Amino acid sequence: ACSDQTTASEDWQTVGTVAELDKNGQLSVKNLPSVNVLVVGTSKSENLIAVNPTCTHSGCTVAWETKGNKFGCPCHGAEYGSDGQVQRGPATKPLKTYTAKIENNSVLVKQ
Ligand code: FES
Repeated sequence: ACSDQTTASEDWQTVGTVAELDKNGQLSVKNLPSVNVLVVGTSKSENLIAVNPTCTHSGCTVAWETKGNKFGCPCHGAEYGSDGQVQRGPATKPLKTYTAKIENNSVLVKQ
């Protein structure tokens, strides 16, 4: 699997370093023009969770709640599971999710 480094690299965008991810257990990128993504996990996690943290209700930014294993919106209390699906209203549509992976020392997200 290490030999195909040249394939489809344009789909993957580097959003940060593994050190940044491991420091907080999450990585949030919002200052790139086309990327608004919140990655949750560490380099030890089996799966990284990556979503667009823009609440589908009215556009506030949701935050990851480690305790409940969910994303919560500070504005009107919507909750989303780690898969982005709505667990509690008023939101009705799921968060957009992305595929994330770690490669060398970088965290990459596929749009
Ligand atoms: Fe998130 Fe209203 S904007 S619940």
